[in-house]
Amino acid sequence: MNYVGIDIGGTFIKAGLVDENGGIVKKSSVPTLATRKWERVMDDIVAQINRLTAGAGYAAVGVGSPGAIDSANGVVEYSPNLFWKDVPLAKYISGALGKTVKVGNDANVAALGEAKFGAGRDYSDVVMLTLGTGVGSGIVAGGRLFEGYRSMGAEIGHMVIREDGEPCGCGRRGCLEAYASATALVRDTLSAMQIAKNSLMWEECGNDLNKVDGRTSFAAAKRGDEAAKRVVAAYAKSLAEGIINIINIFRSQAIILGGGVCAQGDALLNPVREYVAKHRFGGSESLATDIITARLGGDAGVIGAACLVME
Ligand code: BGC
Repeated sequence: MNYVGIDIGGTFIKAGLVDENGGIVKKSSVPTLATRKWERVMDDIVAQINRLTAGAGYAAVGVGSPGAIDSANGVVEYSPNLFWKDVPLAKYISGALGKTVKVGNDANVAALGEAKFGAGRDYSDVVMLTLGTGVGSGIVAGGRLFEGYRSMGAEIGHMVIREDGEPCGCGRRGCLEAYASATALVRDTLSAMQIAKNSLMWEECGNDLNKVDGRTSFAAAKRGDEAAKRVVAAYAKSLAEGIINIINIFRSQAIILGGGVCAQGDALLNPVREYVAKHRFGGSESLATDIITARLGGDAGVIGAACLVME
């Protein structure tokens, strides 16, 4: 039997028809256009599912959405990155499709997908961080997803790493998300470019500020550009500070990093691993935590969402 997994992101909504081994049979992606009324976004999801499953059977639909989710009732209680409050997602979509619909937090379900079918398979205790529009997190402790009371916890992206720091979408300042999201990396790349007018970052984006993305600083740093190296180093240090806090609380066996920035591989992982080993509680002599990238790549959210309805 196949299942539908939906991953709602700040920029794109991904959908996948997923088999029971976590394999993707077919997938699609449409722009989220989150500033519209939520009903219109839901209508797009319903249409996307109908196109995806035309002629193919499926049992049920799992959805991963950013924000605090009342998963028992399928309601997105609060999602600043989508501008949603009290959105009855499961009821709306299941009303339109006549299928069971379950909803979880996007990063929680990505962690579920990685734990079941991806990089977390060999571990019982992992924390996944998704580095995208926001910083999401999913905590697997003793083989089970830990979501907090009424599934509204595990918001590690909103842990403050710098008091009175950069503003965050949640309304506070200095959150990990305000330093380690792709959004923050782009912000810091743009401001470094304003100072370093001769930086190779300008060349990397074809002198078009609209083309600056999470790759720009890494690409210029690889070519030896000093300003870009500083952007990358600051980004890696902030991410590492967040990871150290996670390790000091959970002492997970592994931290799994997901999201587009992870395509940078060792250029990101090496400085993060080095800083974490030195500064975690107990220092480099203490029990190590593997810091690895997601194996399901950009599909973790879709596969994990389908996992919600597999049992
Ligand atoms: C939200 C999380 C979400 C993450 C990634 C954060 O801003 O608070 O709930 O998992 O972004 O989308």
